[in-house]
Amino acid sequence: MKILGIETSCDETAAAVVEDGTKILSNVVVSQIDIFAEYGGVIPEVAARSHLEVILPVIDKALSDANCNWGDIDAIAVTHAPGLLGSLLIGTLTARTLAILHDKPLYTVHHLKSHVYANWLNPKMNPPEFPLLALVISGGHTQVLYMPGHNQFEIIGTTRDDAVGECFDKVAKILGLPYPGGPSISKAALSGDATKYRLPHPKVTDLDFSFSGLKTAVLRAVQKEVDVPISYPSHQLKELLSEQQINDFAASFQKTAVDILLEKLQIALAERPETRSIVFAGGVSANQFLRRRASSLSAVFPEPTLSGDNGAMVAGACFYEIESGVQPVDPYSVNIYPRTSIETA
Ligand code: KG4
Ligand code: ZN
Repeated sequence: MKILGIETSCDETAAAVVEDGTKILSNVVVSQIDIFAEYGGVIPEVAARSHLEVILPVIDKALSDANCNWGDIDAIAVTHAPGLLGSLLIGTLTARTLAILHDKPLYTVHHLKSHVYANWLNPKMNPPEFPLLALVISGGHTQVLYMPGHNQFEIIGTTRDDAVGECFDKVAKILGLPYPGGPSISKAALSGDATKYRLPHPKVTDLDFSFSGLKTAVLRAVQKEVDVPISYPSHQLKELLSEQQINDFAASFQKTAVDILLEKLQIALAERPETRSIVFAGGVSANQFLRRRASSLSAVFPEPTLSGDNGAMVAGACFYEIESGVQPVDPYSVNIYPRTSIETA
């Protein structure tokens, strides 16, 4: 079964054709990073307009790269939740128009589900085994999910404030490193000393996360290091930091964030001893330091190029939804849900 997956929930316009949930026939991603690097973050209205400009060429390329025409496509899958309202609208409206035009069944897929199913997109690897624990770590979410089987999700831990990717992005801003913060922090950290600055772990004892305190702790530590009061504008701190100090802060922050994630995973494993696989999902799972630190857990990671937003994971997740008996949606009444949870999608 060949599924066309369409993803536009944030700032990547993406489409892909995937066969049977594992075999990627094409995967086209147009990122808006260059636009938003200038602003240091995503501007929702600009993101939606950029999706509109490129979505049809992206879909055309996904079909031609896969050597497919519309007759070869069995279904269309699109992200309908969660994400930026305008961005989700462009993807879903495009998908539903194409579904009507080409008479294809249309499926809507939750974004975090797609990130998890990026771990099935490697036909050379054994698929993860159930029950499994999934650590979803992206720019908008930080959740520990328990999956007893395909398409079954229980949230057993979630962030009470910022997502871990958001924290990487905000700390990068304090340090004057370019957007998106994750890749630039991990690059700077390569030349830094991770033991230089001691940063606190949040006092959340259950499986929930809290990352906003860590961001503030970095801010205060930087202010202390350069000897300015806490009222000093955070966007001017970077001018007072040496390159080595920036690298040391990046490394110390990255180590603390990764330690927090792995500690929670250990607690989740102790609570769910029947777990047979651990999978990582979402943009932050591209982090090489995390991958090295998690190697003793025999965890499954997506291919680094599939950690971030893409259409292949949407098509992959859709395949397993169909296998689990999910029915197509009516293209005339398809809706978007910018904030809905994976348990209710
Ligand atoms: O999954 P994703 O592409 O989009 C959302 O669904 O949010 O995740 C984007 C997030 C950003 O916060 C970005 O800084 C982070 O993933 N990220 C990383 C790395 N690459 C991307 N964080 C840490 N290390 C990385 N190498
Ligand atoms: Zn994402």
